[in-house]
Amino acid sequence: MSAILQVEDLSKVFVLHSVEGKRIVGCQQVGFTVRAGEFVGITGNSGGGKTTILKCLYRTYLPSSGKILFDSELFGKIDLVNSTERDIIAIRKHEISYVAQFLQVLPQMTALEVVVEALTERGLSYEHSHIQASSILRHFQLPGNLWDILPHTFSGGEKLRLNLARAMVWRPRLLLLDEPTASLDEQSKIPVRDMIKNLKEAGTAMVGVFHDLSFMKDVVDRHFQMHQGQLREAGIA
Ligand SMILES: Nc1ncnc2c1ncn2[C@@H]1O[C@H](COP(=O)(O)OP(=O)(O)O)[C@@H](O)[C@H]1O
Ligand SMILES: [Mg+2]
Repeated sequence: MSAILQVEDLSKVFVLHSVEGKRIVGCQQVGFTVRAGEFVGITGNSGGGKTTILKCLYRTYLPSSGKILFDSELFGKIDLVNSTERDIIAIRKHEISYVAQFLQVLPQMTALEVVVEALTERGLSYEHSHIQASSILRHFQLPGNLWDILPHTFSGGEKLRLNLARAMVWRPRLLLLDEPTASLDEQSKIPVRDMIKNLKEAGTAMVGVFHDLSFMKDVVDRHFQMHQGQLREAGIA
């Protein structure tokens, strides 16, 4: 199967304007490939550069050098490093989804509306969106009495499950997950792993950052470790 994502020699160096001449390496010379239905897991110490890689892939950060070749349905093979903002916005809407490590949830919508909107803004009817949104919220075991309230009072774990539902419900072509089980107990991690399996079967390519991959070992196809900005293969998890 051909690669959905091919990362080559990717580096991100932060140049701080507050301290003259200060440069901080986020990641350097990172390379890996992800195919349809494959899950690549990245582990490593805090500050190692894991989030930096995901933010470069989502183009929240503009990489300093390297290539991020994405096999886009809309544009064909495209390098996300030098794509236009307009193309990036279209790709985020239709192809690449991202669950951030530190969560920002839209405060002015109920939990159910947040997930419904993820589908309606991608062209699905309200009726179908409602059915699928309810189904995924049930899957993630978000208590029913929270569905019709604004999520800003949710616990960390509840916010995370809502964000996972919003990012996964539309089955993106590429899904980026930054520590998606960090604030969940063992029991709540099971639906996350099961949904990752579902998306794999649907052909979604995934890159996930985890503190510990042991819980995910039966869904991870390849495991990389991040150390001081550099990525090296750690074999099968
Ligand atoms: N926006 C930024 N500006 C400056 N330095 C940053 C920025 N984002 C990350 N870094 C630095 O890059 C390094 C890697 O951070 P990060 O990718 O968040 O690591 P991890 O996710 O593995 O904990 C750290 O030294 C961090 O301080
Ligand atoms: Mg991080």
